[in-house]
Amino acid sequence: MAGQERAVHLLRQLQRASCRCPAHSHGFSQAPDGTSCGKTTDYAFEMACSNIRYGQGVTKEVGMDLQNLGARNVCLMTDKNLARLPPVKAVFNSLAKHGVSFKFYDKVRVEPTDTSFKEAIDFAKRGQFDAYVAVGGGSVIDTCKAANLYACNPKADFLDYVNAPIGKGKPVTDVLKPFIAVPTTAGTGSETTGVAIFDFESLKAKTGIASRAIKPTLGMVDPLHSLHMPQRVAANSGFDVLCHALESYTALPYNMRSPCPPNPIYRPAYQGSNPISDVWSKHALNIVAKYMKRAVRNADDLEARSSMHLASVFAGIGFGNAGVHLCHGMSYPIAGLVKTYRAKDYNVNHPLVPHGLSVVLTSPAVFTFTGSMCPERHLEAAEILGTNVRNAKREDAGLILADTLRKFLFDLNVDDGLSAVGYTKEDIPALVKGTIPQERVTKLAPRPQTEEDLSSLFEASMKLY
Ligand SMILES: NC(=O)c1ccc[n+]([C@@H]2O[C@H](COP(=O)([O-])OP(=O)(O)OC[C@H]3O[C@@H](n4cnc5c(N)ncnc54)[C@H](O)[C@@H]3O)[C@@H](O)[C@H]2O)c1
Ligand SMILES: [Zn+2]
Repeated sequence: MAGQERAVHLLRQLQRASCRCPAHSHGFSQAPDGTSCGKTTDYAFEMACSNIRYGQGVTKEVGMDLQNLGARNVCLMTDKNLARLPPVKAVFNSLAKHGVSFKFYDKVRVEPTDTSFKEAIDFAKRGQFDAYVAVGGGSVIDTCKAANLYACNPKADFLDYVNAPIGKGKPVTDVLKPFIAVPTTAGTGSETTGVAIFDFESLKAKTGIASRAIKPTLGMVDPLHSLHMPQRVAANSGFDVLCHALESYTALPYNMRSPCPPNPIYRPAYQGSNPISDVWSKHALNIVAKYMKRAVRNADDLEARSSMHLASVFAGIGFGNAGVHLCHGMSYPIAGLVKTYRAKDYNVNHPLVPHGLSVVLTSPAVFTFTGSMCPERHLEAAEILGTNVRNAKREDAGLILADTLRKFLFDLNVDDGLSAVGYTKEDIPALVKGTIPQERVTKLAPRPQTEEDLSSLFEASMKLY
């Protein structure tokens, strides 16, 4: 559907489905012709993305990059597991070859917390580094973003830059130190984004820092690293790519998001779907459809694993500017309230619902719920993922995408819903409570939600098959 027609359709749907809860009403004031009335909704969007370099074996260049930057005191971050694996060795070799001096930090927590962020920040403050390198998945890259941010703003309080309403959400005005991110999962797209996510322990839910200023200077994407991912890491990080693509493609359009920022510095990184993000998100979805099953099932399939590594970059550029919505908003308490679930193939000593799994488990319920707001996009996504939608009715769009996703998840041996990762109906009020502060993303859902709606979405996600 053309952009204007889609906006009119969404407005009509929203009038019907409008939420009575003041916290979630969008207060649309856009004229039905799709032009901004200039009062509360935005009228512009902006694309930001790290520089990206892609190539087999490209990690060998990192030492030269640091030399070119004139870096004399580099902070190299990773996690304990990766510290002994080939991706980190490749970086060590390049730094040694080019005589770059560095300090090594391998205490990144897999799925970081405010405490683990602060430990890394202290290390960075003490080290007075002039450049940063992160080798790892989203956990490592996000931790390194926070370390760079607070080491460059040593007087800032930790909550200053954390997303409101949990933190103060202050804009970052300083230029940070050069930062090279070497992603080792095909998942978060963190090498492209200005987002750093952590588990806020006292809230038992995730939140984060979102500012274009913290995005890496360079994302060095070396597909050889993706060959080392164990099967469930490849699966779960691939589901993250899938949801980044689906959520950003179905997010509220940028010109229906409010408020319109009074100064561009306040325009959020997550702006709503827009014509440029759409291209990246849709392309990522096509790659997921073509390669994800192969990439999960066969670690030696270089073509499939490399393609997924690129898809995570594409989806990162898409969602990093458009944002994500309900699967992610609801995933933060699913991850934060974990009880005893231990994820297969994750070499960690704490209970964990991996990010990609926490996101994808609600996806059938979420897209059933949002289907009526932009049915064409839901049908298009289902078609890309392999469903024949030729005779499909628009009113069935959400259900059709949900069924497509269920089949996709079943084929990849995903646990049967939230109940399989340890949740029961009794946990739903706490899960809802943990979702409410995630309005930065939940407000980007194309359909507003009441607390009852969230409750129903969690309930519908208890079992998938
Ligand atoms: N910044 C963003 O834009 C963004 C987006 C989505 C998710 N996230 C966050 O990123 C984190 C999840 O990151 P992730 O899914 O990339 O995984 P991860 O960084 O948490 O790593 C998962 C596990 O896989 C291991 N691993 C990673 N790469 C490997 C490789 N090549 N070979 C062998 N083992 C490997 C790690 O050691 C770890 O044990 C979560 O905290 C999530 O909230 C951030
Ligand atoms: Zn994600």
